[in-house]
Amino acid sequence: MAKVTVDAIRQAKAKAEKITMLTAYDCPMAKLLDEAALDIVLVGDSLGMVVLGYETTAPVTMEEMLHHAKAARRGVSRALLVGDMPLMAFESSIEQTVRHARRFIEEAGCEAVKVEWKPDIERVVSAIVKAGIPVMAHVGLTPQTAANEGGFGMRGKDASSAARLLTQATAMEELGCFSVVLECLPDVLAQEITRRLRIPTIGIGSGVFCDGQVLVTYDLLGLFERFKPRFVKRYAELAPVIRQAAAAYVRDVKSGRFPDKEHTVSMKPEEIGL
Ligand code: KIV
Repeated sequence: MAKVTVDAIRQAKAKAEKITMLTAYDCPMAKLLDEAALDIVLVGDSLGMVVLGYETTAPVTMEEMLHHAKAARRGVSRALLVGDMPLMAFESSIEQTVRHARRFIEEAGCEAVKVEWKPDIERVVSAIVKAGIPVMAHVGLTPQTAANEGGFGMRGKDASSAARLLTQATAMEELGCFSVVLECLPDVLAQEITRRLRIPTIGIGSGVFCDGQVLVTYDLLGLFERFKPRFVKRYAELAPVIRQAAAAYVRDVKSGRFPDKEHTVSMKPEEIGL
């Protein structure tokens, strides 16, 4: 199967091919997703909540993102690898933010970065695009700043906020982003944005009319148990499977059933001079 490129993602929309994206933060998971013929592996800053155990994504550092993006890189050969720019990457100058974006490409081997919408983001996105770095935008519910923007509920539920989101998504296209994630929008608003934009929309909690879909893999696999957003479909329930396996191991070790003959190299003492 051909390598997925930024251009292929752009063209998927023209061909009406749905785009698939999931998150990964390490090599084995990224490899499994890549082998499932996924289009895009996103090293999301959801890392902070589902893997690092933070309450929110806000404390995730650039170093943490790069560390995990490098690991995911080792597992991905076909899918497009996108690195999510954490909130901290936007805390100083635009030049510094562009340097952070470049680190995802040059140090971690990502092929694009994702940028969540936030006030005054346009100049930053424009500078990253001008630096030759492909940008996936993210509008709607943007978890990095959700606490200051009315919490974690749906966005675009009234005329003024729907119009604002339409303007934001359009601006992201005009600034040169190659795709845009739409998080937690009513399906008809996501449909209208998808209709108006030439770049693909990738929805999460935004209905079926988007050009593609994304979920957090730990949600899809039932590995993140702290809460489950309504839009998450669990394709597996792995947490109980892991608990059962670990408990069986504990029982076997405590009772002396493991390691057994099959998992032991048995030799006579004299064979090794004892
Ligand atoms: O961080 C993340 O995983 C994301 C996706 C949910 C789009 O931003």
